[in-house]
Amino acid sequence: MTLNRAAAFAPVNIALTKYWGKRDHEINLPLAPSISVTLAELGTLTVVRPEPELTGNRILVNDKPLDPKGLVKVGRVMRAVRALAGTEVKAGIRAVNTVPTAQGLASSASAFAALAKAAVTAYNVDISDEDLSGLARTGSGSACRSIHGGWVLWNKGERDDGTDSTSERLLTPEEWPLRVVVAHIGEGPKKISSTEGMKLSESTSPFFDSWIETCHRDVEECKVAMINRDMQHLAHVVEGNALAMHATMLATRPGLVYWQPATLGVVHAVRRLRNEKGLSCLFTIDAGPSVVVLTEASDLSQVADAVAQVPGVTRITQTRIGGGAHIVPNG
Ligand code: PMV
Repeated sequence: MTLNRAAAFAPVNIALTKYWGKRDHEINLPLAPSISVTLAELGTLTVVRPEPELTGNRILVNDKPLDPKGLVKVGRVMRAVRALAGTEVKAGIRAVNTVPTAQGLASSASAFAALAKAAVTAYNVDISDEDLSGLARTGSGSACRSIHGGWVLWNKGERDDGTDSTSERLLTPEEWPLRVVVAHIGEGPKKISSTEGMKLSESTSPFFDSWIETCHRDVEECKVAMINRDMQHLAHVVEGNALAMHATMLATRPGLVYWQPATLGVVHAVRRLRNEKGLSCLFTIDAGPSVVVLTEASDLSQVADAVAQVPGVTRITQTRIGGGAHIVPNG
């Protein structure tokens, strides 16, 4: 068996219909399927170097040691990779994020997708992208969608071991090349992590059961909007799903209030652009204050300018729908 240094880049993804609720908290099995788009450029570059002399994995993220909760998740992925490779050799791991953390953009998705991709390559494990997505999922649920590029479905799966809770690509980036504007909205009070937040919503939100039913319906409706490349229909489903997730979060006890005033400012701005100016755009929001706007390329500059002017938006990032996790030669 040969062990080699490997570097992988994985992009973040933004869910169009969300994952908020688990049937297994250990290996991140969702209660509902979800659909996302993978974003170009924003993501994580991770280097895995197996080193026989190490007694434990050595991990640096943005040149800092990882927190204990992160270590448990990385340990879970690396144990699975060592078992597949049939070795006890530990690794040095360095990850660099190009996404601001804790602003509601899922840096954990790109981080665990990049880790899984680099680790299986470094440990010489032959694995399909589908199974690789399942491995990334054990680090962070949404990471399973970042293995693929384009428009991605994460199947809920039925099995307890999670082998059928993997992701698949529905459309390539070119098949519906929407553009993306990320409205970065400054740090609020320290946010509750998605892991803790989901647990709280499951046990206390009075809307939780109907939220999960909504997700099942929205995934099917989202697929129809995608097949027809119907932006109005997509906006109806995607905005409705994000707002339903936040309604579920708000009704959690204690209430999970991820929004800042500027979050609502962008919501109204996007609706004005669509309803009053006839521009083709929609918004979605994850577990944080930032807002992600999808738009047709022809409307990009007008949408980006309007979003950037919303008070409280600290900066915007323009990007597109891109490819999935990949090895970076000499990275
Ligand atoms: O995979 P996690 O634990 O980072 O959870 C992600 C949760 C949301 O971003 C809010 C929704 C989603 O589907 O990505």
